Amino acid sequence: MDNSSWKRLQKLRQSYLDAKGFLPDYWQDDELLLAYDETLAQRIRWKWRAVIDVLPLAIAAFPKTLVDWGCGTGGASREILSMHPEHFERLILLDRSNRAVSFAARQVKSEQPNIKVDTKLSAVDEGFTLLISHVLSELPDEELRKLMPLVERASVILWVEAGRPQESRKLSGIRSELQGSHHFLAPCPHQDICGMLREGQEENWCHFKAPVPKEVHHSAFWRECAKQLGVDLRSLPVAYLFAQKKNAVHIETKDELRILAGSRQYKGYTRFNACHQSGIIQADYMKRNSKKIYEALAEPGLDSKYETSELLLKDDADDDKSL
Ligand SMILES: C[S@@+](CC[C@H](N)C(=O)[O-])C[C@H]1O[C@@H](n2cnc3c(N)ncnc32)[C@H](O)[C@@H]1O
Repeated sequence: MDNSSWKRLQKLRQSYLDAKGFLPDYWQDDELLLAYDETLAQRIRWKWRAVIDVLPLAIAAFPKTLVDWGCGTGGASREILSMHPEHFERLILLDRSNRAVSFAARQVKSEQPNIKVDTKLSAVDEGFTLLISHVLSELPDEELRKLMPLVERASVILWVEAGRPQESRKLSGIRSELQGSHHFLAPCPHQDICGMLREGQEENWCHFKAPVPKEVHHSAFWRECAKQLGVDLRSLPVAYLFAQKKNAVHIETKDELRILAGSRQYKGYTRFNACHQSGIIQADYMKRNSKKIYEALAEPGLDSKYETSELLLKDDADDDKSL
């Protein structure tokens, strides 16, 4: 990557960080798309990989048509296709930038020659899997309103955003709008209002830490990227929503806790944050109960979920160590 590409990426990243719910179309040429695709889009793809790895629904149950809305270089759809090339048949790429759509279509055609690629929404006339990735920081409310009918129609929704307060809380709000049409399969352990939207949680947000691939830590390119763009390669915060259109099948909600990012380990206990049907819980898990769980809670993965009775133990509550 030459100096001028790094400079352009720095400017682009800064505009993402500064965006207050709007950015004008910034895909000026294919060089910028390529530079983005090799750097920032790769980081986003690590998040997608982490999310897809823990989905509580077999890919075989997903509609075979993918719609990648706000596709950019197509990172979200290219990642799911690279992980499950055998399942999907069609991909519809949508973005306000025709240049981005053409770039993404070219990449998909060369990587997945068996996938039929379309670039028009009118091509969706059946059940589809909707992918949305990293659009909320630059999407004005009126554009989100225009997007919602498509989201409400989707058989399966997989929406991944940066694990920052603004984007995550916005996604929680969108989740509320989908309560009538969709079941929430992940990360939520329940179907009620998102606990982060309840009173007293205004400073908090639902997010997780996705793993960075090991090879990245030994790569000179990624070291340079971290330096040039100021990205932290140790931490990859992610917010996401995985939902399935409601149908006649009744999904039973179990009494479970989803462990969120932000645990702290102390000598004899781990203090963890969790999502529960009753709201967001902060509690302490005593090492003496299980060293394995005490350690697992300190570094929760995206699939960190427990039966409530397994973590909130009566004895600990009596000790006043657990809420
Ligand atoms: C940060 S990029 C993310 C690209 C890609 N989804 C990814 O995760 O790498 C945001 C994308 O959303 C697109 N976008 C922004 N506003 C849009 C709108 N109103 N309609 C369609 N696409 C939009 C931009 O052109 C850009 O490609």
